[in-house]
Amino acid sequence: MTALAPTLGHTTRPPTFDAGHPLGVTGAFGADPIAMLLSAHRQCGPVARGRLGPMEAWFAFDPEDVDRVLRADAHSYSKATRGYDKLRLILGEGLVTSEGETWKRRRRIANPAFRKQRIEGFLGTMNASTVQLAEGWEGERDVAHDMMALTLDIACRTFFSTEVESETEAIGKAMEGALSQFNHLVSTPLPFVEYWPTPGNARFWAGIRTLDRVVGDIVRERRASDAEHHDLLEMLLEAADAEENPMTDRELRDELVTMLSAGHETTANALTWTLYCLSLHPVWARRVEEELDAVLGGRPMTMADMGRLQVLRRVLDESMRLYPPVWMLGRMVEEETTLGGYAVPKGTLVFLSPYATHRSPQYWENPEGFDPDRFLPERSEGRPKQAYFPFSAGSRKCIGDRFAIMEAMSVLAVLLQKYRVEAIPGEAPVLDPSVTLRPKHGLRMRVVPR
Ligand code: HEM
Repeated sequence: MTALAPTLGHTTRPPTFDAGHPLGVTGAFGADPIAMLLSAHRQCGPVARGRLGPMEAWFAFDPEDVDRVLRADAHSYSKATRGYDKLRLILGEGLVTSEGETWKRRRRIANPAFRKQRIEGFLGTMNASTVQLAEGWEGERDVAHDMMALTLDIACRTFFSTEVESETEAIGKAMEGALSQFNHLVSTPLPFVEYWPTPGNARFWAGIRTLDRVVGDIVRERRASDAEHHDLLEMLLEAADAEENPMTDRELRDELVTMLSAGHETTANALTWTLYCLSLHPVWARRVEEELDAVLGGRPMTMADMGRLQVLRRVLDESMRLYPPVWMLGRMVEEETTLGGYAVPKGTLVFLSPYATHRSPQYWENPEGFDPDRFLPERSEGRPKQAYFPFSAGSRKCIGDRFAIMEAMSVLAVLLQKYRVEAIPGEAPVLDPSVTLRPKHGLRMRVVPR
């Protein structure tokens, strides 16, 4: 009699990933998390399991499982992971890191600020900041650095009307100092690692202290002022005043630092990778230019133009498919549930990866190719919904997705009407999957007037 092949219902656990690393999955993940994720998917299919430090970890790649974790069974999962714990040290209890009733209240307060009519008011600032950068944006440039500075400037102006360059710079440096230590804190499986006296930790805490001071001052000054502002802080204050308990200074600090960190580096990376993809695919760069010339004819983008810049939108979507700024999401199983047809026990860490799912040959034709037209409606039919989830999904979906798309399109519209970006031979980016997916040593490109 031949033994039954293990099928769902006969096995209780998904295949174990053999990472081929002396320190197993933990070692492979620490060395190169993106390569580890791709290899786990290739070897094990829709769900892979392994030990990550002392924890049981499952990696789920199938869009249906992504949907289960983020939407259908979201109540069975929490954000009680090491990653979010370390992020909490920087962001406090803002929208990204809070849960339960605290999160519900925060989301209720923040939602109105992200409605279409509200964010439309930010478009002028986005255009103005980009026009400023576009003056003299020529020659060999670190485009990653430029996009980071630009989105930080836009964030500081639209979130709390900062016009002071030194303040924006201080916030940028503080954020960089705190976030650059993040990967180390998450990947070192020892307790209290953030309190060891190392130079990295010194930068980490100094960054947090600066954020507390600068953002704290902004909040205090605003409370003391009667002047009208059309920014996110004002919208948060307005919505919070309508609540039974107004927001405390600390709550406002946490929300503003959260918005800054969630909103600026992500969009900067989306822009950098889009410019990189265009530099590799001049045919697409020309199509974008033709569309911009026809629709805008030299002026910045308005909200009404967005629907007509469809090539630009598909190029952006395709770039975020290949290089999703948020490349991985982690969750903790709080009550037993199912994933890939297996029972996943309480206490398991579950990881989803937009990067791996977006490049899976099981859900995408020619996944490594740059083909923006794959997002045409007729070519998207039948594609599972969560095969593409750069902004996550369900109730914890990115609140700033519309803001981010509008910002990225308006920035690209200004820059690409004036300039072409060309790759410099030998300057291929190295992926740095940190809090966001960015190029490790920046990205030098040649910026040429059109
Ligand atoms: C291309 C740009 C962006 C990408 C790819 C992106 C992606 C994401 C993703 C994947 C999440 C889920 C994170 C998680 O589950 O931990 C998220 C959450 C969030 N994002 Fe974004 N984001 C972008 C831009 C922005 C912007 C511009 C803002 C603010 C202006 C923003 C604010 C937030 C906030 C507050 C959350 C937490 C929402 C909640 O849990 O209720 N994001 N984002």
